[in-house]
Amino acid sequence: MSKVLVTGGLGYIGSHTAVDLLEGGHEVVIVDNLANTSPAVLDGIEAITGKRPAWEDVDLADAAACAAFLARHEDLDSIIHFAAYKAVSESLQKPLDYYHNNVGSLVNLLHYVRSNPSCAFIFSSSCTVYGAADTLPVHEDMKVNPAESPYGKTKQIGEEILRDVAAAHDFNVIALRYFNPVGAHPSAKIGELPLGVPQNLVPFITQSAAGLRGALKVFGNDYATRDGTCIRDYIHVVDVAKAHTLAMERLLAGKVSVPLEVFNLGTGDGSTVVEVINAFEEATGVKLDWGFADRRPGDAVEAYADTARAADVLGWRAELPLKQSMADAWRWQQSLPRG
Ligand code: WQD
Repeated sequence: MSKVLVTGGLGYIGSHTAVDLLEGGHEVVIVDNLANTSPAVLDGIEAITGKRPAWEDVDLADAAACAAFLARHEDLDSIIHFAAYKAVSESLQKPLDYYHNNVGSLVNLLHYVRSNPSCAFIFSSSCTVYGAADTLPVHEDMKVNPAESPYGKTKQIGEEILRDVAAAHDFNVIALRYFNPVGAHPSAKIGELPLGVPQNLVPFITQSAAGLRGALKVFGNDYATRDGTCIRDYIHVVDVAKAHTLAMERLLAGKVSVPLEVFNLGTGDGSTVVEVINAFEEATGVKLDWGFADRRPGDAVEAYADTARAADVLGWRAELPLKQSMADAWRWQQSLPRG
């Protein structure tokens, strides 16, 4: 058993990872400032695992608050760092908030790892670091193009900071680049809690199906794909969570020999928007109200992961199919209070 700090552990991917860690027998400490979630997520984690992790409300971008918290937790074996802002369009409006929060919290946490180099550190990165990918599937060694938003830049900069700091101070870290995490825990006790009108496809689908939103607009039907709609690599959040536990174990076992190791987390299969709609309808028996609309500015036509490195090196593969993601997302939606 090891002691793991999960920053942003009450958020979407963080909470599913906390569950996986607790189920694996690890001790979990959560820091979350509730920027985009609620303390009720702790009840969900406890309902699934029978364990209630310790939680503190700390703003990790506040250097003094972060240092004070870490001084009280000098025995951490690992840090899994999810806490960050993550909305692409919001980051265009509030870039300084994104740089302050996403870069500041990472820098503050790395002071701890520099002093405790045996502490395993795992960073939430994103397929957005590839910018508009030149070839598919997207491979980890592919040239990183300019990111298309301040949010994406915070992930690119985050990886650069990790590479420099780990090299200079002789420790190793892992960054996990998520494609499109979707779904919810099959128990429907935890899931995604988008604030306001969802910008992402699957939360919009489930809210539209629940009658909380109007018809789903499919952005663009004249792309050069098999049905004219954009292609993404949708991956079940429970699969994403499991990769963090494996990455942590890999670092703790001393198996990483470069300063920064990066892995794509995707299924390797791309689905069009229409295929996602069909999977939702087939998995749930619920008919969606949807129609085609104009393209959304900034959307890439196609992105899906090369998953070989995660399989070969981390021993991880996505296991849960798209239909299960849809069924679980819908079960979660139905468990939420309406409105
Ligand atoms: C998926 C597809 C839309 C909404 C997200 C994050 C990004 C990165 C990757 C984290 C696109 C279409 C959507 C709707 C639609 N993740 N769509 N109608 O754009 O791949 O980006 O995942 O780092 O930061 O934002 O995901 O879910 O917004 O869109 O037709 O109402 O669904 O055009 O083709 P995207 P998404």
